[in-house]
This record gives sequence, structure tokens and C-alpha cells, in this order.
Amino acid sequence: MDDREQADDSEEASDYGLESGRAAPRASQDAAPGDERRGFIASLIAVIAGGIAGLAPLAAGLRMFVSPLLTRASAKTGDPSADGKGKKPFLRVASVDSIPSDGTPVQVPVIDDLVDAWNKLPHQPIGAVYLRKAADGTVACFNAICPHAGCFVAFAAERKVFQCPCHTSAFTLDGAVIQPSPSPRDLDALEVDRQRLAQGEVWVRFTSYLPGKTEQIEK
Ligand code: FES
Repeated sequence: MDDREQADDSEEASDYGLESGRAAPRASQDAAPGDERRGFIASLIAVIAGGIAGLAPLAAGLRMFVSPLLTRASAKTGDPSADGKGKKPFLRVASVDSIPSDGTPVQVPVIDDLVDAWNKLPHQPIGAVYLRKAADGTVACFNAICPHAGCFVAFAAERKVFQCPCHTSAFTLDGAVIQPSPSPRDLDALEVDRQRLAQGEVWVRFTSYLPGKTEQIEK
């Protein structure tokens, strides 16, 4: 082997990291694939951990945004006078003593707190009802809205009927529609809390129904 060939062998051995010409791979080249894999996994874990850490404040902000909805919804379902089946809660509308004992109906407003997701307006009028005391002390309650198209009915004392000023629908003192009439149904009778009635208070389950329908369909 001449000098030129020896120099070529020496360069080749050097390329493979050889000191003595014996083939042995360099440590840096051998470790590179494993290091890359470990680096990739570490980066992936860091990205996932960072994503989870970023979700925490996002979830907290989301909860703060919707919490009024959740709070008011739970407060509603927690109302002891609601039955948990979607019925309206009972609302106090009058004392029994304030209703005439001779069977004359009296109209009273229905007051409740108006609540949306972020606001609460306490003690707002939300409708009106007629209360009528029977001879046995029971109290009947009717929504004051006409089932025809939603006008407020009046009590015509001289005729002893409920009379709608809009399209002449009329109803007996028991709420039955007087025919002929444009009203498709009787006045909407509302439930009165018997337990509180015995205690001298009139609480009613105030419910509004769609006008123009033969059946009661809750709004
Ligand atoms: S709204 Fe009462 S008769 Fe039409």
C-alpha cells in the first residue's frame, strides 16, 4: 500500500470515528434517534400539560359567565311550593278576609320577582286574577286574561258576569263561557293552595295559557 492509499484509509477511518481503523460508530450518531424520540415525547407531554393548564381558567371563566343561569335555575327548582314537574310555584295574592263574602269576585294583581340570567327585578306585576269566595269558604281563582285574544276581562256587576271589552266574550261567575262567544274556552281556572287558604292566605299557582286555543296550552 502506497502513501496515497494509506492516507485514504486514514480519512475513511476518521469518518467512522476510528482511532485505529477498526469499525466502531460514533456515540453521537448512534444516540441521535433515541434522543429525538425522547425529545418528541417530552414536547408532546409539555403541550398536553400546557393545554390542560390553560383549560382550568377557561372553565372558571365560563362558569362565572353562566353562573347566574345555574343559580336561578337551581333556586327555581328548589322552590318548596313547586312540585318539581314544571309547575309554577304558588304566589301570594291576597288574604281571605279581603275577598267579599257575598260571592262578588274581586280582581287582584299578581306580583312576582322578574328574573333573567343577570338581572332581578323584585315585586313586579306579572298579571291579574279574579278571586271569588264561595259560601263554604273555598276560593275560586281565574286568570283575568280572556282566552280569545288576551284582553283583560272586566266584572260587570249589574249583569253578574265577566265581560271582555274587546270582542264581547262573556263568562259566568264560575268562569264558564257564555255562548255564542268568540272565546274558544272557559276562563282559565288556577289552583289555590288549600293549606294556606286554611291559614287565611290566598296563594295561587299563577299560570298563563295561549289564547285562541280550545285546550289549555301553557305559555
Ligand atoms: S279578547 Fe276577549 S273576546 Fe276577544
